Amino acid sequence: RRDASEFVPDSIELSRLREASRSCRGCDLYQDATQTVFGEGPRQADVLVLGEQPGDREDREGEPFVGPAGKLLDRALVEAGIDRERVYVTNAVKHFKFTRSERGKQRIHKKPARGEIVACRPWLLAELKAVQPKLVVLLGATAASSLMGPSFRVTEHRGELIEAPEEFGGCPERVLPTVHPSSVLRAPDRDEAYAALVKDLKEVPRGL
Ligand code: URA
Ligand code: SF4
Repeated sequence: RRDASEFVPDSIELSRLREASRSCRGCDLYQDATQTVFGEGPRQADVLVLGEQPGDREDREGEPFVGPAGKLLDRALVEAGIDRERVYVTNAVKHFKFTRSERGKQRIHKKPARGEIVACRPWLLAELKAVQPKLVVLLGATAASSLMGPSFRVTEHRGELIEAPEEFGGCPERVLPTVHPSSVLRAPDRDEAYAALVKDLKEVPRGL
């Protein structure tokens, strides 16, 4: 089955990985999206924050978490005492998946399929090798399933510091699952959902 691996260079240099990711054809999502949205942040960040996939704004700007969900994430990180400048931010899937609204004006986010998450995983594994984070914050079910497998349930483990599977060889040592910032934007009680996200993020150990 097709995946990103043949496009991923054997390198731990983020600039090389980012450049190569521009021409990935590991699944069909590159066809309709504007560009690959690779991760962003310091080369050796202790904390890697993993989202789902780029949204409409990210697709146009080429950077992760610059739209509404990203703004909310930034605010929540600050409130939890985490410096966004010190975290590496990326997505489980690096191309925007969407459908067009009826008259084609709006691009509506679609959840990536399991096959697309698996196809894109070699990029994430390369980023983990390059950045060598101690902790990965998993934002929502897609991020969690990419790293922890499809049977992992965020709802059962949100806000818990969990040991990462051995296959990662200590990079990361642990993961912290929580909800996706977009789910906070959609929540009936937004303040409550936001406070719960901040509370989870406060579990990131001091000094990381
Ligand atoms: N949602 C994500 O999961 N990632 C982004 O980069 C933007 C929105
Ligand atoms: Fe490659 Fe991932 Fe884009 Fe699919 S979504 S084309 S695997 S970068």
